[in-house]
Amino acid sequence: MTLQEEIARRRTFAVIAHPDAGKTTLTEKLLLFGGAIHVAGAVKSNKIKKGATSDFMEIERQRGISVATSVMGFEYKGDKINILDTPGHEDFAEDTYRTLTAVDSVIIVIDGAKGVESQTRKLMEVCRMRSTPVIVFINKLDRPSKDPFDLLDEVERELRIRVRPLAFPISNGPTFKGVYNLYEKNLSLFTSDEKLTASASTAEIADLASDALDAQIGEQFAAQLRSDVELVEGVYDPFERDAYLRGELAPVFFGSAVNNFGVRELLECFVRIAPSPRPAPTETRTVEPSEPKMTGFVFKIHANMDPNHRDRIAFLKICSGTFERNKNYLHVRSGKQMKFSSPTAFMAEKKSVIDLAYPGDIVGLHDTGNFKIGDTFTEGEKLKFTGIPSFAPEQFRYIENADPLKFKQLAKGIDQLMDEGVAQLFTSSLNGRKIIGTVGALQFEVIQYRLEHEYNAACRWEPISIYKACWIESDDAAQLADFKRRKHTNMAVDKHGRDVFLADTSYGLALAQENFKKIRFHFTSEF
Ligand code: G4P
Repeated sequence: MTLQEEIARRRTFAVIAHPDAGKTTLTEKLLLFGGAIHVAGAVKSNKIKKGATSDFMEIERQRGISVATSVMGFEYKGDKINILDTPGHEDFAEDTYRTLTAVDSVIIVIDGAKGVESQTRKLMEVCRMRSTPVIVFINKLDRPSKDPFDLLDEVERELRIRVRPLAFPISNGPTFKGVYNLYEKNLSLFTSDEKLTASASTAEIADLASDALDAQIGEQFAAQLRSDVELVEGVYDPFERDAYLRGELAPVFFGSAVNNFGVRELLECFVRIAPSPRPAPTETRTVEPSEPKMTGFVFKIHANMDPNHRDRIAFLKICSGTFERNKNYLHVRSGKQMKFSSPTAFMAEKKSVIDLAYPGDIVGLHDTGNFKIGDTFTEGEKLKFTGIPSFAPEQFRYIENADPLKFKQLAKGIDQLMDEGVAQLFTSSLNGRKIIGTVGALQFEVIQYRLEHEYNAACRWEPISIYKACWIESDDAAQLADFKRRKHTNMAVDKHGRDVFLADTSYGLALAQENFKKIRFHFTSEF
């Protein structure tokens, strides 16, 4: 197969959702359809179960499991599908944000009873930043759900994206009958004994006016479906794939993942419309996947929690060319040539050493502590991929050395954990103290535990009251200097020496934005 053909058949995406909406269940069903697994329950949920929120050892155990399921590759009807898993727990949201930098599209799962939830909104913001194509799957229709038109309006309003239903549900909850596929114009009937199997009964009903529909679902539901479909066709423009690919239009499916219902429709449509690997921007130029020379970037680093193996796995997304085992590549940041004797590919449930990988694929590289999130590998060109930002943290604590004899170990530990993207380090301009900022509170426990067990260092946390950290810049040097002087007690610098404003409250932030019009406040590190 040529490089071009390998690229065209690849689909690299993530399933994202507010916790409990059904992300793990849907992922598993997609793998069942793809034949990648044969029994339900094979994919370990890397969600931290309720009640275990303070048990970080459990979290790490789960994170350990999640290495294996971090990327799940499988073949489906000639296409190579790569699903990138994302942590279910909100405190690891930054992991999820970063994973989104490595995908070409996403499927968003929404609970039909709950509608759009807080985490769904945040994740959509990240998709919007990158114009990532989005498909929406509205789940749990076997339970009493909101009205489908209300749900469509809610998605459009709350996620600020145009929607186009490509399937439409017939009732929900105990009277849930099935889904009419507007894309293929057939009807899938819901039978709850379909549980855990990959088959679904479909009836070809090209003409909704026909009596066959009444015979299948009864007169009342048939009449309702006819009027719903008429409304859909009247209200929504026909599906435009280009608008979907630009990230402006989200096709919407309905179903019940746990009952394996509506999943086939989703997958069939997905392989047809979802994009193959897209061009990737760098600081100097855009890299086309079909370029013969290999380029790629690290989007995730996973530490091995086994105390006997302190190594890490860096996840490399291939952006162009062909990646080869044992070939020398330039690690751009250090300027060093490196080759990898055992790069791994991830197929569902297992890892294996690979010889070749293509754009869209994710390769696991063995790392002894040299790599950072965002690192680029090339065949010699000095490129730096963009679009892999840090996100403004929302939880903060001072970090103090609890063992004066272990100062060096602590500094090294902090440095490496920050490179892994566990949290962000700021230095206060007021008192020079080190502040750790994270997206979720659990990270503080994880950091403390890992400093102790991996670096033999001890830290102590002290509270600091900050609402949000944001990066600031301005073309008006005088106003910037004035701002920094007046807000001296709230200023810090990040690891790269850039100015960061630590707002005490949302009101304080709004006021600063109002009073200093020439200063730009950024909520991601890349601007
Ligand atoms: P997440 O990864 O998005 O956090 O969600 P997950 O798939 O773990 O699903 C959350 C819960 O919702 C699970 O129940 C799961 O069985 C259930 N669920 C998923 N899809 C559907 C559906 O279509 N209909 C219904 N009725 N439920 C669904 P749980 O009780 O939390 O876990 P489990 O004990 O069933 O694993």
